[in-house]
Amino acid sequence: MSKHTLDRILQSQGFGTRKFCLRLVEDGEVSINGEVIADKRLYLETEGLRFTVYGEEWLYREHIYIALNKPADYECSRKPSHHPGVLSLLPEQFSLRDVQPVGRLDHDTTGMLLMSDDGAFIHAQSSPKRHIPKVYVATTQEAVTPALISQLLKGVKLHDEPAPLSAIVCEQLDTHRLQIVLEQGKYHQVKRMLAAAENHCTALRRSQIGELKLEALNLAEGQWCYLTEAQLSQLVSGS
Ligand code: URA
Repeated sequence: MSKHTLDRILQSQGFGTRKFCLRLVEDGEVSINGEVIADKRLYLETEGLRFTVYGEEWLYREHIYIALNKPADYECSRKPSHHPGVLSLLPEQFSLRDVQPVGRLDHDTTGMLLMSDDGAFIHAQSSPKRHIPKVYVATTQEAVTPALISQLLKGVKLHDEPAPLSAIVCEQLDTHRLQIVLEQGKYHQVKRMLAAAENHCTALRRSQIGELKLEALNLAEGQWCYLTEAQLSQLVSGS
C-alpha cells in the first residue's frame, strides 16, 4: 500500500512533468469515479486506483509489462533512424515512463516483443544466465533439409563468436519454414546461423518466449496488451 499526491501519481504514470500534471488537474482534465478532481495535492492510495485523463480511464501501475505483436518495418532502437520506433505503437505516456523493449528484434522481424519500464525485469529477462528459450519461425530461401536441421542443432560457427552456436530445438514446418528455439540472443542470431549453414532467412517471426505463446495473446500485428501475473510467470523458466 502506498499513498501519493495526485500530481505525483500522474507524473509517475507518464502524463508529463509535475508542472504539467498540476495544470491537468487545474484544467479539470482529471476525474476519479466520474468526479472531476480539483485538489491537485489530494492524497490517494495508488493500489487499484482508476483515474480518467482527457476522458480516458487508466489504472495506476507501478510498472508496466506488455507484449507487442511487432509488425515489420519498426525499429526497436530508442533513436530509430530508418523506420518508426516500436514505441510509436504505444500510448505516448509509456515513452515518458521510459518503457523500453526487452532485447531487440530486427526491423524486419515480426512477432512477440516484451516491453517494460522495470529495469530489474528487463535485466532478468535479457540475462543469458536465465536460459529463457525463444521460439522463432524462419522462412528460408532454399528448401529445409534434414542436413540443415542437424547442422543447426549441432552448432554453427559465426564470425565473432568463440564457440559454435546451436539451436536447442529445430524442426521443419514445411518445405521452406522451420521452427528454431534459441536460448541466447546474439545479434541477428537466427539469420546468421542460417547463413552459416548456407541457407538464407527471408522472413522471421518470434512466436514464443519461455512458455508464453504469442498466439495465446490474440494480438493482431501492431497490437499490444498488458501481461497478467500468470502470463509473466510463464516467461520465467530456468534460474
Ligand atoms: N535473430 C535474428 O536474426 N533476428 C531477430 O530479430 C531475432 C533473432
